[in-house]
Amino acid sequence: MLRNSRDSFGLVSILFHWVIGLIFLGQIALGYLMVRVSDFTLQFSLYQWHKSFGFLVLGLSALRLLWKLANPRPRDPEHMNSLERVAAHAAHVILYLSLFIVPLTGWAVASSSPLQIPTFMFNLVVIPQLPITISDAAEAFWAASHAWLAYLSAVVAAGHILAALHHHFWKRDTILMRMLSPSAAKTGRNVN
Ligand code: HEM
Ligand code: HEM
Repeated sequence: MLRNSRDSFGLVSILFHWVIGLIFLGQIALGYLMVRVSDFTLQFSLYQWHKSFGFLVLGLSALRLLWKLANPRPRDPEHMNSLERVAAHAAHVILYLSLFIVPLTGWAVASSSPLQIPTFMFNLVVIPQLPITISDAAEAFWAASHAWLAYLSAVVAAGHILAALHHHFWKRDTILMRMLSPSAAKTGRNVN
């Protein structure tokens, strides 16, 4: 059950979803906290962790996208009306885009900063800077874009999480369970 079928997510898609999703939510909290810390040494270390996990999200998301393209997407439950289907798919597209655009704008913040502080990804490799304009104004622009996009994606993620809980506890279908186990469609409540 590594691959998706028309009824269920396979183990690989499930692992990608939860590993990336949890790191992404952790990154929002870490980003919020680290810009508000006053101790410089702690702040430097938190920035390095934030940038490292951000690059991890970017790399895993690229692999996830390739996996998604090579797998079928499980069918929507028949009880979902067209508005619900459009809303769910729009949220998924926005979240997929955020997984790329948010770390890329973060990379732009680090690359445009006149301080030019390198990113030591998990203290293993140095990530090169993007070839973009270096100035205070450019850094301020990218920092504002990064923050806005990160917090907007958090709002969409919150709606997505509430929708998943609504499916599970209110509609009582297998939408949440099939993102937890590849065999949920066979053993769980009927998705229709
Ligand atoms: C999963 C990806 C990421 C998420 C969700 C995320 C989220 C955030 C958030 C919420 C903030 C705080 C914004 C504020 O309140 O001002 C922040 C700040 C920041 N992030 Fe990220 N980030 C991600 C990836 C990255 C990456 C890959 C880098 C760099 C390589 C990066 C560099 C920064 C920097 C430098 C700041 C501070 C900006 C400032 O000085 O105002 N982030 N991030
Ligand atoms: C506790 C948090 C979360 C829960 C309970 C949750 C739940 C779910 C569920 C049940 C699905 C399957 C929907 C379906 O079958 O059509 C799903 C899909 C998805 N989720 Fe989440 N999710 C969470 C966090 C996140 C986060 C933080 C992100 C991204 C930032 C995310 C991105 C996605 C995407 C892109 C899909 C579509 C997967 C695909 O079709 O390839 N999720 N989520």
